[in-house]
Amino acid sequence: MKLTTKNNGNTQLNKSIRNFKHQLSFIFLSTGALLTAFLLSYCSKPKSVNNNFEAVDTLVKKEAFQKEIDGKKVDLFVLQNDSGMVVKITNYGARIVSILVPDKNGKYDDITLGYPTIDGYLTDSMYLGCVVGRYANRIGKAQFKLDGKLYKLAANDHGNSLHGGNKGFSARVWDAVQQGDTLTLTYTSPDMEEGYPGNLTVKVQYILTNDNEIIMNYEATTDKKTVVNLTNHAYYNLHGEGNGTILDHFLEIFANQTTEIDSLLIPTGKLVDVKDTPFDFNTPHTIGERINTDNEQIKFGKGYDHNWVLNKKEGEFALAVRLTDTISGRILELYTTEPGVQVYSGNFMNGSVKGKSGKPYEYRTAIAMEPQHFPDSPNKPNFPSTILNPGEKYTQTSIVKIRIQKQ
Ligand code: GLA
Repeated sequence: MKLTTKNNGNTQLNKSIRNFKHQLSFIFLSTGALLTAFLLSYCSKPKSVNNNFEAVDTLVKKEAFQKEIDGKKVDLFVLQNDSGMVVKITNYGARIVSILVPDKNGKYDDITLGYPTIDGYLTDSMYLGCVVGRYANRIGKAQFKLDGKLYKLAANDHGNSLHGGNKGFSARVWDAVQQGDTLTLTYTSPDMEEGYPGNLTVKVQYILTNDNEIIMNYEATTDKKTVVNLTNHAYYNLHGEGNGTILDHFLEIFANQTTEIDSLLIPTGKLVDVKDTPFDFNTPHTIGERINTDNEQIKFGKGYDHNWVLNKKEGEFALAVRLTDTISGRILELYTTEPGVQVYSGNFMNGSVKGKSGKPYEYRTAIAMEPQHFPDSPNKPNFPSTILNPGEKYTQTSIVKIRIQKQ
């Protein structure tokens, strides 16, 4: 009985040991499998990826942009560098849809405004992320003369023409070719499209570098004398899109003058000094600090919506704007060959549209910094010329560089 008990006890003990060994090997095997899965997924993602990357990344999916528009294929192209930055671009309007970057703690946000699907862009009136053309910003009375001939444009903004007319380059399907981290987009705007003369062939190249730079190279040629003014109209919020206002962002604009505007935001032709005004950003100020000042120019713009005349020679490539968010540690620098930059503090934003993460885009929750020639140049002979002749090549290079200050 005792023996049996003993034997039974031993049997029981052996069984437990066997079970324990079994469980141990199961734990080892599953831990190994988990570890391998983790390593595999870790290696396939950009370096320094925080565990919230996936959540932000999946807000904008390639499938949501694959559609046929105007008989052409629209898609989403993804550029990804070795430093963990991701830029998504659609060939509908050559638009930057997403810019994913970590903050000082490695937490990812999408720092540009955009919609989660192509459909949002089809009804967009904010020009989110697009290339604006044939003429960025406003042309007064929606007309201009070239060699004595009057050209009439779409009067889509209080009797003036805004951002290329009713269907500008922002609403056109561009041809796209991706080679690694370079996306080349081309579009040919036919003679008299939106009232502009000449067949204009436009090429825009987006290149993402390992130094967190988005290089934007523009080129255009024409077969008839015309006017050209191209820019990128991305809106930024360095806290992440939909995460509050940009009024606490520090802004620097390296410019001593702005082009004075009238109440409809058309330049008067006069260049005015920024010294001792709310427009002096040669040293850093938050956007909110002076935005509600009792100043006629501020009132006309309903905040900042002005063109700054950059402190540099024509065609010189230089730093134009620096935007700093001390909370996330993200700093955006804009370099350009253009003579001006339109800075727009989101004064027409009203929460009527929702962005990628479902949050409404409220008043002043983003800033657009658009390197360009001055608004209404075709009617202002004293401004740098925007005329392009056959045989000439329009070129522009602008770079958006993101730095992350770890502290
Ligand atoms: C530009 C203009 C603004 C406004 C926005 C688009 O930045 O300067 O006045 O039209 O585009 O909403």
